[in-house]
Amino acid sequence: MKIFIDSADIKEIREANQLGVIDGVTTNPSLVAKTGRKFEEVLADICAEIDGPISAEVVSTEAKEMIAEGRRLSALHPNIVVKCPMTFDGLKATRALSEEGIRVNVTLIFQPSQALLAAKAGAAYVSPFVGRLDDVSEDGMGLISTLVEIFGNYDYDTEILVASVRSPTHFVESARMGADVATCPFSVIQTLLRHPLTDIGLAKFLADWKSVPK
Ligand code: E4P
Repeated sequence: MKIFIDSADIKEIREANQLGVIDGVTTNPSLVAKTGRKFEEVLADICAEIDGPISAEVVSTEAKEMIAEGRRLSALHPNIVVKCPMTFDGLKATRALSEEGIRVNVTLIFQPSQALLAAKAGAAYVSPFVGRLDDVSEDGMGLISTLVEIFGNYDYDTEILVASVRSPTHFVESARMGADVATCPFSVIQTLLRHPLTDIGLAKFLADWKSVPK
C-alpha cells in the first residue's frame, strides 16, 4: 500500500520524507489555508520535495471553471493530480480533464455509488473519507471494504485512496483490505512507527549496556 502524507505544511512534509516511506501528498483547501501561504508557492515547495503524485484541489464549483482551474494546476508540475469534488459538475470536469490526460482525484466520497461513478468518469483516484464517516456513526472502513470488492469485480485503473485517516487502525485495516493508498496526517504517520514496548525495550537495552565494560 502506498503512503501519502495529508498535509500542506512543507516543514512536516520534509520531516516525514526523511523516513523514506512517503509516496505522494494530498492537500485540500483547509490544509492550504492553515499554512497562511499562497497555494502556488506551497505546491512548488511540495513538488520540489516529493517525487510522487501531489493532489491539488480546485475551488470552483462549475464544470467549466473547474476544468480551467484543473488545467492551470496541472501545468504547474507533471506530478500534480487535480482534485475535484464529488458533485455533478465535479464528475463532468473529471471526464473532461482525464480525457486530456490530466490525472484526477475525486474527493469527498462517502458512498460506493459515488466511487463507481468517479471511476467510470476516468478518475485516477477516488478518496473515500473514513474518519468523517466514523464521526457521524457510519462505518468508514466498511466503505473501503465495499469499494475493494466492487473495484475487484472490474478493470478500472482507478486507485482507492483512503482519506480522512485518523488512526493506525484505519491505516492497518486499509492495508488488510487491499486499498491502494492511505493518506495520513503527519501525526498519524508518527503513531504508525511507535509502540510502548519498543520504547521500554530500548530503554532497558541502553540501561543494561552501561554495565558492559568499556
Ligand atoms: C483527503 O484528501 C483529505 O485531505 C483529508 O484526508 C481529509 O481529512 P479530515 O477529515 O481529517 O479533514
